[in-house]
Amino acid sequence: MSLDGRRARIDRVLFTEEEIAAKVRELAARIRADYEGKPLTVVGILKGAFVFTADLVRALDMPLRVDFMAVSSYGFATQTSGIIRILKDLDRPIRDQHVLLIEDIVDTGLTLRYLREHLLAQSPASLRACVLLDKPERRQVDVPVEYVGFTIPDEFVVGYGIDYAEQFRYLPYIACVKLED
Ligand code: IMP
Repeated sequence: MSLDGRRARIDRVLFTEEEIAAKVRELAARIRADYEGKPLTVVGILKGAFVFTADLVRALDMPLRVDFMAVSSYGFATQTSGIIRILKDLDRPIRDQHVLLIEDIVDTGLTLRYLREHLLAQSPASLRACVLLDKPERRQVDVPVEYVGFTIPDEFVVGYGIDYAEQFRYLPYIACVKLED
């Protein structure tokens, strides 16, 4: 399923700004309770999770450090090849830190698996993942995701930081796109 090079338009809204905000508050409440009294480092994955990370850390409203990694996967724009390239690594070491990885979408699971292995190799005190959207239908590898926002069917989504060919990241809601022939 390669959708590359095709023009895309918004088909329908999947989650409104208000629904996303409510979900972010719900996730933040769970995370805050779980990490009470523990020094937390959140690692946002660029670019897709930049909006989610910004909203989640403000909803968490607790002392924490923020770091970012940027990754890209070789292959087509809409399909993960499983070969991940690190474009930007962490700024600070995470040894003995409690780390929460923040991702936009878990689809095949290959990106998250790679990131977990990369971070675990640096001996954090603990590592958990929080993803806004889970597409379980396309999972290729079994990877733990401790905090999931919404479970969605196998549809291509954009908005709230998530793109199609660098378009639509600015939308405050999450929508399905339709690809024109
Ligand atoms: P995975 O390695 O297949 O789990 O892919 C995860 C990454 O693929 C996400 O972080 C996104 O960057 C991208 N991705 C997967 N599904 C979508 C989608 O529906 N819209 C935009 N990007 C997606």
